[in-house]
Amino acid sequence: MCGIVGYTGKKQAQQFLLEGLAALEYRGYDSAGLEVLSPDGELHGVKCSGRVATLAERCKTANLVGTQGIAHTRWATHGAPTDRNAHPHLDCTGRIAIVHNGIIENFQEIRSYLRQHGHTIATDTDTEVIAHLIEDAWAGPAKGDLVAATRNALARLRGSWALAVECADAPGEIVVARQGSPVVVASTPDGAYAASDAMPLAGVTKHVISLEDGQLARLSADGSVQVYDADGLPNDHPMTLDIDFDASAATLGGYSDFMAKEISEQPEAIERLLKGRLTEHGIELDELSMTKEELASIDRVYLVACGTSYHVCLIARELIERWAKIQAVCEYASELNYKEPMITDHTLCVIVTQSGETADTLTAAKRMRAMGCKVFAITNVLGSTAARESDGTMYVQAGPEVCVASTKAYTAQIVAASLMTLRLAYANGSMDTGEIQRRYHDLEQLPDLIREVLSRRWQDKKVAKAFRKAHSALFLGRGVNSTTAYEGALKLKEISYLHAEAYPAGEMKHGPIALLEPGFPVVAIVPADHVHDKTVSNIQEVQARGAHCIAVATDGDVEVAQQCEDTLWIPPVPEEELVPVVAIVHLQMLARYVALERGCDVDKPRNLAKSVTVE
Ligand code: AGP
Repeated sequence: MCGIVGYTGKKQAQQFLLEGLAALEYRGYDSAGLEVLSPDGELHGVKCSGRVATLAERCKTANLVGTQGIAHTRWATHGAPTDRNAHPHLDCTGRIAIVHNGIIENFQEIRSYLRQHGHTIATDTDTEVIAHLIEDAWAGPAKGDLVAATRNALARLRGSWALAVECADAPGEIVVARQGSPVVVASTPDGAYAASDAMPLAGVTKHVISLEDGQLARLSADGSVQVYDADGLPNDHPMTLDIDFDASAATLGGYSDFMAKEISEQPEAIERLLKGRLTEHGIELDELSMTKEELASIDRVYLVACGTSYHVCLIARELIERWAKIQAVCEYASELNYKEPMITDHTLCVIVTQSGETADTLTAAKRMRAMGCKVFAITNVLGSTAARESDGTMYVQAGPEVCVASTKAYTAQIVAASLMTLRLAYANGSMDTGEIQRRYHDLEQLPDLIREVLSRRWQDKKVAKAFRKAHSALFLGRGVNSTTAYEGALKLKEISYLHAEAYPAGEMKHGPIALLEPGFPVVAIVPADHVHDKTVSNIQEVQARGAHCIAVATDGDVEVAQQCEDTLWIPPVPEEELVPVVAIVHLQMLARYVALERGCDVDKPRNLAKSVTVE
């Protein structure tokens, strides 16, 4: 949830620290801070509630000089987002500073211990205790060795962490550690770097070391990095990752916001994902890492995720059941973790996670694996924890998604799930090569269909005005497009703060219809599919109550257009199961325009963070 960066080297630290935080701000943005070791041998810092831009403004007057520092952008868990609770946190001497992403579960107990032993606790955070534990270790058993002092402190903690530590008495050194929260480090001729993910480092290197749970790293001012395993022994072959995107991929590139940019990148993302997947033997999906026999024997698929990625699972369930004729079960990861899943000897668990770091999803994957399931991850982030802790991983290659609201990862993940389903269908004989090829060519049409919807964005801009006075909205859809309704409502809620509910259209009369009154916005997804006429009946029920109906309909559907106040048109889609990939683009753009009308920051909605690394 929080973002951390660190640097020690030849250059002034402040610029990288601020730029690094800006690149990680999608992880949390309620407060920010940095601490630089100055040539006078003292730590000097600035921290404040609010955005990284506010911190950068304060830094202009603070004039922090020094070639080493650590910094943090926060999504508050323990303690309000105030200046005082912003990281970095210091020990009693003010000579040890720490930034942390994660949760220290036993912080209360450690805090009491520290108070009894004369420490002064200055903040409400769980993190601060780590600085004091390192202070004790530094003054005691580990004197002179920051790695040993950090390890000593970490041994007393329960919970999760990615952290960076610096000590005024160990100049030229930063210690980084990981347990459950991601962190990468990099060695360059200019110095050594640390960051929560590779995004801030894309401009300085093409390769990073991705720390594994239990590992620590010592970053030195000469640019070297030494990794240590959980047992304290040096590890000279840590896991390295190539950065698979250009530094410019995470910049606005002329767009007014990342959401606009990422919505418009969907066609290319899907093209990249599909490229080279069709062979004469069907779909190429070696990432599944299973033999043909193993694939053919799969008799149940558990689909597990959170939020928008869960909506991918709902669509994947339809695809798997319709195309591969395998029973599929969808579970919110946060729910599955407290249930007894009904797995068979041949159950495949598929986790879907854009970031690859969602704590609930990772816990669920671990549990399913421990129960004997093969776990396959669909993710967007190379080397993410989901990829490491699964038996196979498919990268959707959508490129960095910076806007907190997921758009291009959503559609790319659906296409990835479609490819996986075709692979399963071929393996178990539900589809022959000809059928696979036909479905694949249907998938290939999606990028152009999305381009067509993108060119119709003026329709969404116009319709957004219908939400000006709204205090709530209802989204309806049937079959696979009930999920389009869920995802459309989620997008609207998360970026415009307008309450929105979504239901399968047939469920409306069992309760939600009570909400309807003149002018109430109802978005009905009613493409040309086998449930079209049923949804039209629901639209009539909406009209009879004077609500304002906005249809998402297929070109030429005059009947629907006549019955609704507004229509968002989609071109005909070759398979009805693939309509969600096209229709959602309108609802993404609609949500964005409504949010802009309401003066909201579409990229950084309040209270949210992109990577939810706490359960
Ligand atoms: C999507 O717009 C949301 N920000 C959120 O629901 C997100 O999809 C969810 O937190 C899961 O994230 P993941 O895909 O990275 O696991």
